[in-house]
Amino acid sequence: MSLNQILDHVADDLSEIESAILHHIQTDIPLLTNVAEHILAAGGKRLRPALVLLGAKLFGYNGKDTIRAAQIVEYLHTATLLHDDVVDNADMRRSQKTACRIWGNEASVLVGDYLFSMVFYMLTQLQNLDVLKTMSDTTTLMAKGELLQLTHSHQAMNEDKYLEIIFNKTACLFASALKMGAIIANAPNQAQQQLYDYGMAIGLAFQVVDDALDYMEEESKTGKPIGIDLQERKMTLPLIHLLNSASPDDKARVEGILAAEIITNEHVHEVIQMMKLYDSTIYAVGIAQKFTNNAQTYLESLPESPIRQMLTDIANFIVVRHF
Ligand code: IPE
Ligand code: IPE
Ligand code: MG
Ligand code: MG
Repeated sequence: MSLNQILDHVADDLSEIESAILHHIQTDIPLLTNVAEHILAAGGKRLRPALVLLGAKLFGYNGKDTIRAAQIVEYLHTATLLHDDVVDNADMRRSQKTACRIWGNEASVLVGDYLFSMVFYMLTQLQNLDVLKTMSDTTTLMAKGELLQLTHSHQAMNEDKYLEIIFNKTACLFASALKMGAIIANAPNQAQQQLYDYGMAIGLAFQVVDDALDYMEEESKTGKPIGIDLQERKMTLPLIHLLNSASPDDKARVEGILAAEIITNEHVHEVIQMMKLYDSTIYAVGIAQKFTNNAQTYLESLPESPIRQMLTDIANFIVVRHF
């Protein structure tokens, strides 16, 4: 099932959210509007805003606060992407040149900062201290995740450290998007927590699959180049698995590539072949599947409804997705 099919029943709400996302970045500073429009109009799955909406609808909320809350999470996501592409020195995002390639690192960082400020301004407009606290904790964790990743050399990386990083940099935003919806809907605390835990589990799975797709040239439709994580020397789960399971010779070869001055496309191709030999991406997707299985258990105690079914389908989609 595609994401659009899964979300078909809330398509009207999502298009209202989409218009709001694109409308509120119009400013009187052309550089700001151009950069923000460049990245926001390029698409993106809008998965996090959808999770805010579903988190609220699961508890019967049909008001308008979710529009603002959904905008908030997408702007926060966009701000982190603008900064992340500077940190990762990335060329491509959403199938087009990154903002940092077109306008430079300075403009990308500053527009990211502006979006962050907008996030907190809009949070004050929601006038909900629980939501504010949730999002403030989340931005702190996300910054911590990116810092942890930056400061871990490949020798110091292992599966636990990797999971800690992706818990912070990616999964907590999924978790808080859902929780935000539940808070707005006045859901009981325990239910808020269940949704938060579900979000955390699918968020972990989401990043693991993203990291596997980086090495899956036939499948990947993420709009980001293949092998870019390797070229950035980023220690993701498939690579950690490869280093842990390869023969001493193959391991030495991968270490040699990681130490090379320039990691070429041929190097990428060679590593992809080795990952096929050692089932490293299959291993990673298997771990993602475990996370989503776990996610489904958190849904069990929540009210059964078509919205809950969508959350079930989203968990399944995350493991099989190619984009
Ligand atoms: C990209 O997120 C960053 C990761 C956490 C891997 P998405 O894959 O949700 O990006 P868009 O918003 O759809 O472009
Ligand atoms: C995920 O980081 C994005 C953030 C949470 C900031 P990555 O660097 O792994 O994601 P991509 O591959 O650039 O989308
Ligand atoms: Mg990146
Ligand atoms: Mg990064």
